[in-house]
Amino acid sequence: MQYHQRGFVGGFGETEPVSRIMYASRSLVRGPVYAEMERIRAAAMRHNEPLHVCTALLYQSGWFLQWKEGPPAAVLKIMDRVAADARHASLRIVHSSRGPRLLAGPWSMAIVQCDETPDDMARRVAAVRHRFEEGDQFAPPAVWRQLSTPMRHPGADRQAQPDAFQRVLVCGAAGDAAFDLVKWLGRHYGQEVVHRRFAGPYELDVGTDYTDFEDHGRVMRVIAMARRGLALPLTRAFLPDYSPVVLMLSGDLQRDVALFDRVAEACRQLPAPPRLLGVGLSHDSHLRLNLAANRAGLDYAAAVVDAGGHAACWQAVDSLLAEWESVPQSAAG
Ligand SMILES: Cc1cc2nc3c(=O)[nH]c(=O)nc-3n(C[C@H](O)[C@H](O)[C@H](O)COP(=O)(O)O)c2cc1C
Repeated sequence: MQYHQRGFVGGFGETEPVSRIMYASRSLVRGPVYAEMERIRAAAMRHNEPLHVCTALLYQSGWFLQWKEGPPAAVLKIMDRVAADARHASLRIVHSSRGPRLLAGPWSMAIVQCDETPDDMARRVAAVRHRFEEGDQFAPPAVWRQLSTPMRHPGADRQAQPDAFQRVLVCGAAGDAAFDLVKWLGRHYGQEVVHRRFAGPYELDVGTDYTDFEDHGRVMRVIAMARRGLALPLTRAFLPDYSPVVLMLSGDLQRDVALFDRVAEACRQLPAPPRLLGVGLSHDSHLRLNLAANRAGLDYAAAVVDAGGHAACWQAVDSLLAEWESVPQSAAG
C-alpha cells in the first residue's frame, strides 16, 4: 500500500500516527436527515472529543460515509458503539490506515444533493471496497471524493488514475463572486453545477458548488467555497489537493486581507500548502497579500484583472496552470 502521507503537524500533540478508518453504510433514517445528523453531532461531540477522535460524516443518496481519525483504541471503541446503531445498516469498511491526522477538528458534516439513487451509490461503494480489499489503497480524501463526488466528465476516463484531475478552489473576498464564477463556467462548458452543504462543530452551515469540465485537454474541477467554509476541518483536509486556491479580490483592502487571513489560517501547519492566485485590479491588495504570503511561507501569484469579469478571471487561472505545466514544481500536487 502506498500513498503520500500529508497531515497536520502536532494535531493533539501526539507523536504516533493515528488510526484512520472510513466506512459506508445504508441510512435507515426516516424523515429529515440533516436534523438526525445534528443529533449524531451532539453525541459525537460528547464522546469523540475527549478521546481525541475527529470525524467527518457525509449523507448522500440514502448512504452515510464516515471518516474517523484518532488513537487506535479510541477509534475502535467509537466504531463499536456506532456499528450497533439502528439508524444505519450494511456497514462496509472502505479505508483503514495509520498515518498523520488529516482532520484538524472534531466534527464536519456534509450533505450532497443530487438525483442519484441508493443503487448508484451502492455500485461506487462496491467498487471502492473491491479496490480496498485488493490492497489498492487511496488516501482518505481521495476515497471520500471517489464515493461522494466522482469525476463524471468523459475526459476523466483518459486519465490513468480515476482521481487524477486538476482541482481549483475559488473563494471570493466579497459577495458571491466565487459561486458566480462556477455558475459561469458550468454554462460556458455546458456542464452541471453540483451543490453541497457542509457544517462544522458549532452550527456552521455553508454552501459549496463545483463543476467539472475539460479545458485545453485538461480535465478540471472548479470548486466555489464560502469564506467561512475555509475553517471547516473537512475543507482543510482537502486543501493540499487544490492547486491553485484562487482568491477573487474585491479591491477593498480590508476585505481582501480578511480573505487572505482565512486562507492562510486554513493552510497553517499543512506540510504541502496549495499555491495561491490573487485575481483583482488593486495593486495595493496584491502588494499587501504578497508580503503576507511571504511571511506565512505561502506561494502567491498576482493576476491584475477584474475578478468580476468571468472570462478574464478564468483566463488568468488558465495561464497560470499552463505556466506551471511548463515548469513543474513539487508543490503543484
Ligand atoms: C452514521 C452514524 C455515525 C455516528 N457517529 C458517531 C460518532 O462519531 N460518535 C458518537 O459518539 N456517536 C456516533 N453516532 C451515534 C451513536 O451510534 C450513538 O447513538 C451515540 O453515541 C449514543 O450516545 P449517548 O449514549 O450519549 O446517547 C453515530 C450514529 C450514526 C447512525
